[in-house]
Amino acid sequence: MPEAQFDDRSLFSASVQGVPDFWRELPGILWSFDSGRPDPATFPIDDMTRLNEFVLRTQTDGALQYGDGYDEMMYGFPGLRDQLAERSQGDDGRDIDRTAVLLTSGAVQAISLALKAFVDPGDVIAVEAPTWGAVISTARGRGADVVAIPMDGEGLQVDLLEQELDRLDRQQRRFKLLYVIAAFNTPTGVSLSLERRHRLLDMAARRRFVVLEDNTYRDLRYDGPALPTLFGLDESGLVVQVGSFSKTMAPALRLGWATGHPDVIAALTGVRTDLGVSQWVARVMSEFLREGLFDAHLQSIRSFYRTKLTMTEAALHAHCDPWVSWVTPEGGFFLWVELDPRIDGKLVMRNALARGVLVRAGERFFGDPNHGRQQFRVSFGKLPIGGIQSGISRLGEAMTESRR
Ligand SMILES: Cc1ncc(COP(=O)(O)O)c(C=O)c1O
Repeated sequence: MPEAQFDDRSLFSASVQGVPDFWRELPGILWSFDSGRPDPATFPIDDMTRLNEFVLRTQTDGALQYGDGYDEMMYGFPGLRDQLAERSQGDDGRDIDRTAVLLTSGAVQAISLALKAFVDPGDVIAVEAPTWGAVISTARGRGADVVAIPMDGEGLQVDLLEQELDRLDRQQRRFKLLYVIAAFNTPTGVSLSLERRHRLLDMAARRRFVVLEDNTYRDLRYDGPALPTLFGLDESGLVVQVGSFSKTMAPALRLGWATGHPDVIAALTGVRTDLGVSQWVARVMSEFLREGLFDAHLQSIRSFYRTKLTMTEAALHAHCDPWVSWVTPEGGFFLWVELDPRIDGKLVMRNALARGVLVRAGERFFGDPNHGRQQFRVSFGKLPIGGIQSGISRLGEAMTESRR
C-alpha cells in the first residue's frame, strides 16, 4: 500500500505554524550547551523505582485511574497539593492550603492556563527582555500583543514598565499581565532585586494587572540568600506563581504547579481542557516528598551544579578570553555570554556547529531577530561534566575563526 500523503495545508487552522528550524534535530552535535535540560546523573532512579512499585502495588486504583471526582481529577492528587501548600508556607511564608494549588503538566501548562484565563485577543502582556521565548509565542498565539521591558543587573526595569503602561493607557489598550522569571531569569540568570519586587507589586496593585511569577529554577540556588518571592510578598491576590519538578527531578514527570488565590486557581482549573495530570506520577512524587527525600536530593544536586558552573566558567576563561564576558549567576543552568564586537556573532554559531558544538543564539530570547545577535546562552545543565572542557575549547576555536 502506498504511504498516505497529507498535502492540503489549507485544511489547517491559523494556529498551525511550521516547526521552527531550531527544533529540528541537528546532526553531528557532540557538545550541546543548548537546552535547559537537567543532567541525567541527577535523576534519583533507585528511589523512584522503589516508590513507583510501592505506589502501583498499594494505591493501584488511585494511581491508575482518572482522579476520583472533579477536584481530584482537575486540580490533581490532593496529597501532593497539600505538600506543595505546606512547602509554600516555608518557601513563600504564606499560609495557604490545597485550594491555592493546581497541578499541571509542567510549568509550561501552568503558564498557558494563566494566559488562557487572563488574556483575550488584543490584550497586552509584558515580559522581560530577554526572556524564555516560549512564553512570547504562546501569548502571541492567543492574539495578545507582547511588549518587552529591558532588564539590567537587578532584573526587570520597573520604571520602564511604568512608562510603557502610561503609554498603553494613553492608547486605551488593556494591559493584563506581566510574565516575570524573578529567580534566575532565562537566559541571563539575573534575579529581580528585593526593592524592585516591592515596587512591582505596588504597581500591580495600583494598576490592577496579574503578575505571573515563573519560579521554575528557584530551588537551584548555588550562592547568596534566597529572596522573598513575589507570591510571598503580595497582598493583592494578583500574583500567580508557577513551579516545576522538571529541573530538580526529571522533565519527563511533566509535573508542575500553579499557586495563587483560590479564586484564581479555580479559574485556571476551569480553562483546562485535559483531564488533569497523571495521578500515578503525582503519587510517586508525593511519596518522595513524604519520605523526606526531596530536600536531601536538592542539597546534593545544588552542589553538583555549582561544580559544573565553576567548571564552565573556568573553561570559558581558558578558551574564550578575551572574546567573552558574563555575570556569574547565583543559580539556574545558564551563562549569558556577551561577545566582543570584534567577533561576528552569527558566524560563531555556524563555526561552532561545524565543530559539533551547540549554544543557544541570543535572538531566541527576545522575540525579535534584531536583538541578541552578539549574545548567546550556554547551558551547563545536561552536558556530562567530562564534556565541558572539550566543548568549550571548540567554542573558543570557533570564536577565533569568526573575527570580523
Ligand atoms: C523559565 C522556564 N519556565 C518553564 C520551563 C518549562 O518547564 P516545565 O518542564 O516544567 O514545563 C522552562 C524550561 O525550559 C523554563 O526555562
